[in-house]
Amino acid sequence: MEKENFKTPTVYAVGGGKGGIGKSFISSNLALFFSRKKISTLIIDLDFGGANAHTYLNTQLAGPSIKDFLSGSTSHLGEVVTKTPFPNLSLIRGAADWDEVMSLDAKSLQQFFKSVRDLGFEKIIYDLGAGTGFETIEAFIDADVRLAVSSPEPISIENTYQFLKRVFYRQLQSACEQLDCKSLVDDILNNKQELKISTPSSLIKHIKKTYPEMGATLDSKIQELKSITLVNQARSPKDRKISGSIAHIARQYFGFPVENAGCIDFDNRVWQSVRSMKPLFMESPDSDILRDFRDIFNQLEKHKKTSAQTDGKGLYKNVS
Ligand SMILES: Nc1ncnc2c1ncn2[C@@H]1O[C@H](COP(=O)(O)OP(=O)(O)OP(=O)(O)O)[C@@H](O)[C@H]1O
Ligand SMILES: [Mg+2]
Repeated sequence: MEKENFKTPTVYAVGGGKGGIGKSFISSNLALFFSRKKISTLIIDLDFGGANAHTYLNTQLAGPSIKDFLSGSTSHLGEVVTKTPFPNLSLIRGAADWDEVMSLDAKSLQQFFKSVRDLGFEKIIYDLGAGTGFETIEAFIDADVRLAVSSPEPISIENTYQFLKRVFYRQLQSACEQLDCKSLVDDILNNKQELKISTPSSLIKHIKKTYPEMGATLDSKIQELKSITLVNQARSPKDRKISGSIAHIARQYFGFPVENAGCIDFDNRVWQSVRSMKPLFMESPDSDILRDFRDIFNQLEKHKKTSAQTDGKGLYKNVS
């Protein structure tokens, strides 16, 4: 892409901890939503254990993958970008086996995330794997727009909180390393019962009260974690309200902004589209089932646009 056409990319991460809740389905349809608007879009399969974003996009597994770049077999990330059958939409395939990838350190991952942003795509979507693996949490933190997906099942909701908790503590850890205050924060954490620190947000409050300057800096790093909740596979009116409750509880518990994006209903046409390898956004872009998707995706896009206009750096990177 020519330099004058280069637009600052927006990176979206779709995570949530639990497997089978629709992360890949949502990632691939979000990618199709953008690409249908003639926006150059790249989806990256960061599910190192169970790569399948290619299936959602009707693309073969065989071919260059993220592993070729991360293991050093190829030095240019652009070489592992594959075209999909859909205009304006490219894919970086996931790694089929992930032993080598697992040994990646924070520095290599940061370099990878930077290379991704330099590829020249306007929208980049990280389809994250299940669980709270190091690379999954790092990718979620690196994104500009963070989508924490859950299903309405209690286990999935619990996993979403655990996922956000890992995100919180990882961000705290890197902020402490930067500020050289790790042992001080560790001491506080070791005495949290006596200090009546029962939640991550009360930990930050305590640090702010005791060490105002350092506390304010740590707090601003934590605020950068602004995230969005979304419940997929809702089957009842009660289910449709769950995302709002998760966002509310997470805000109180973690003390960083968490917004509710709403929900997507369970619908047989969803899994049928996956089985027939015909993505919904290509097959029936105006159908009622896509109403929820469109509303949510429009919301995500608008958030970013508004923030880019106001602070030039993105709402999700720069919340004070
Ligand atoms: N709203 C929905 N209605 C019906 N079926 C759905 C819905 N969303 C996802 N599914 C189905 O659920 C299954 C799992 O979805 P998906 O592969 O996107 O989950 P995932 O979170 O990416 O899983 P993993 O963690 O294993 O990568 C798929 O068969 C998909 O078609
Ligand atoms: Mg998946």
